[in-house]
Amino acid sequence: MINNQHIPIMTNEILSLINGLKNLSILDCTFGGGGHSKKFLENGHNVFAIDQDKNSLKIAKKLKNDYPNIFFYKSNFKNIDLLDLNIKKFDLIFLDLGFSSNQLESEEYGLSFKINSNLNMNYLGGGLNAYKIINYYDKDALQRVFKLYGEIHQAEKLANYIVNQRSLKKISTNFELIEVLRDSEVNFRSKKIHFATQAFQALRIEANNELENLLIFLEKVHDFLKFNSHLAIISFHSLEDRIVKNYFRENKIKKNKNLTDNKNWGFEILTKKPMVASQFEVLNNNRARSAKLRIGKFIN
Ligand SMILES: C[S@@+](CC[C@H](N)C(=O)[O-])C[C@H]1O[C@@H](n2cnc3c(N)ncnc32)[C@H](O)[C@@H]1O
Repeated sequence: MINNQHIPIMTNEILSLINGLKNLSILDCTFGGGGHSKKFLENGHNVFAIDQDKNSLKIAKKLKNDYPNIFFYKSNFKNIDLLDLNIKKFDLIFLDLGFSSNQLESEEYGLSFKINSNLNMNYLGGGLNAYKIINYYDKDALQRVFKLYGEIHQAEKLANYIVNQRSLKKISTNFELIEVLRDSEVNFRSKKIHFATQAFQALRIEANNELENLLIFLEKVHDFLKFNSHLAIISFHSLEDRIVKNYFRENKIKKNKNLTDNKNWGFEILTKKPMVASQFEVLNNNRARSAKLRIGKFIN
């Protein structure tokens, strides 16, 4: 049986972009449990879906029984230009970044601090994982990861403590890591959230190359957007949201196109501030509380 517990986020806000339209070509770059894709299919659209996860492939295959117009590509979305998509340009390109509830609940990926599993946190494939980072990165590299991706002020203290602890015994599981984090006496400044959240976030971003994937994708995405199409991106932490915000700002369409500007495309930014989920949605789906949605309309 395929475990699918993921509830799609801000679906009404996304669907409102294509309200009343039919038969559009939509690229869902983060298929996950297929929640958003299913909504697009139910509304009569053609969905090209990407996800690196093998379980997403299974879910997409099942969905195809009811909706033949879904086409799934098991890939990292940073490789969008290498896929054999039989459509060249899309009406909507959508990303719902990070990991799904299915992946969070999976012991294999070890993303949760509530489940004791082998230290991994890699949900996108590739050679790196949290075990290698924690046990083999040198002190400076560890400090960089915790500072940049966890925004932990006492990153150096934490890195030093980990280097010391692992010389006594390798840190192999999520619960062992949590114990080390607790014993480090680092001030994680996280009153409202679990104290290990920032450290887990940092390791997950590093293990999956999350920010680099997004940056590489954004470099390429304009080649896949039709005139007047939309690019909509949901992010879940400030580092990702900043990348998306800056991308739209840097590529904002200028009112009087500068002749020296060799770029003939840009975005009308539809979300000056990011949209957030309604209180009602957050009540029903706690994961929606940190979601930020930014949308640009592609003009060329
Ligand atoms: C938040 S979930 C998406 C949930 C989906 N919108 C739904 O409603 O079920 C994010 C998904 O994106 C995938 N993902 C994240 N980064 C990726 C990348 N760089 N390439 C491909 N898939 C990625 C993850 O594997 C995960 O399944």
